[in-house]
Amino acid sequence: MIKNQFLSEINSELEDLKNLGLYKSEYQIISSQSSEIEIIDEKSSKKMLNFCANNYLGLANNAHLIEVAKKSLDEYGLGAASVRFICGTFDIHKKFEKTLADFLGFEDVITFSSCFAANGAVFAALFDEKDAIISADLNHASLIDGIRLSKAQRYFFKFDDMSDLESKLKDAQGAKSRVIVTDGVFSMDGDIAKLNEICDLAEKYNSLVLVDDSHATGFIGENGRGTSELCKVEGRVDILTSTLGKALGGMGGGFIASKREIIEKLRNKARPYLFSNNALPVTASVGVEIIDMLKDSKNLIKKLADNTLYFRNKMNEAGFEIRPSSHPVVAVMFGDAILAGKIAKAMIEEEGIYVIAFSFPVVPKGEARIRVQISSAHEKEHLDKAIKSFIKVGKKFGVIK
Ligand SMILES: Cc1ncc(COP(=O)(O)O)c(C=O)c1O
Repeated sequence: MIKNQFLSEINSELEDLKNLGLYKSEYQIISSQSSEIEIIDEKSSKKMLNFCANNYLGLANNAHLIEVAKKSLDEYGLGAASVRFICGTFDIHKKFEKTLADFLGFEDVITFSSCFAANGAVFAALFDEKDAIISADLNHASLIDGIRLSKAQRYFFKFDDMSDLESKLKDAQGAKSRVIVTDGVFSMDGDIAKLNEICDLAEKYNSLVLVDDSHATGFIGENGRGTSELCKVEGRVDILTSTLGKALGGMGGGFIASKREIIEKLRNKARPYLFSNNALPVTASVGVEIIDMLKDSKNLIKKLADNTLYFRNKMNEAGFEIRPSSHPVVAVMFGDAILAGKIAKAMIEEEGIYVIAFSFPVVPKGEARIRVQISSAHEKEHLDKAIKSFIKVGKKFGVIK
């Protein structure tokens, strides 16, 4: 009977989530990831404009990269069927790690099956109870969980409050080593970490800096090297973690970039690396090609920045409350979770604009929003259609006049 009680508690929890507007349902996509996608429900399929993928550079269905992927599948097959140190390291993994390290300006790179796995690996492998981890309060769930796996002492600072960070660094002076941990971009608001001041404080208090640049690698900074490039702190960030699942093709995979000996230690101690399959060889082949593309041309980065500015300006003019930033994550604030959910539903079902509402626990209570994500794959007519639809639905629900 324990089983019945367990299941009935879960069912009532799910019911509560639905009543509170916090239940997360999933639409099914039957096309490739792009600015236009096709989704299905039980009744029919529908074409939509897509404004919620992390496909920042629009590479997820790039024809040339798909050709590279097909060739790689012919050469290396589907996967390694092994962890890296047993018989799962292909030459293309090594080539990709070197290509990424050179591009980002680090001595070495280690890849993982995801950035969640990379963040789950890095803290327990490098820091123990004698060390201190000083983490930004809005850090991504994978950093939070990764930090939990380490025995290090934990401190938290308000992500944009440098005096709070300084006071936590003072508190942590007794620790053997210290590491400040921050997202490069806080993905719910598009806020960019104050890396300049963070690196200054790290130097003053003899601390390492770890940045998760998942929402920056490939498109933030003039050459797409991320928030360190944008904030002009390249060479001052000690450990960089990031994903291949967003701008870099949207494939599954993540990585850590750092000094040679740190990466060597991770290859020997990081549990998700030692006990789990790595990024697929096909991912590594495509990754090498993407980095070459980024080195050859900045067109996609420029188009993304132009699209972002255009969309932000027009939405501000229309009277929406937009979190200020220059990042392609555009948080359109509605506050109430149910209202945000209804607006997203109307955008999808009535306007053919695929956007998703975010509410607690993904964002703080009372700060529900629709997170619009701009891509280089969007053309001006896509942006105009989305703006027009937001205005129509916003008026319908009384959000704007
Ligand atoms: C800041 C940040 N770190 C890590 C991850 C996890 O990346 P992956 O999908 O590669 O596990 C995400 C994805 O949502 C993210 O936004």
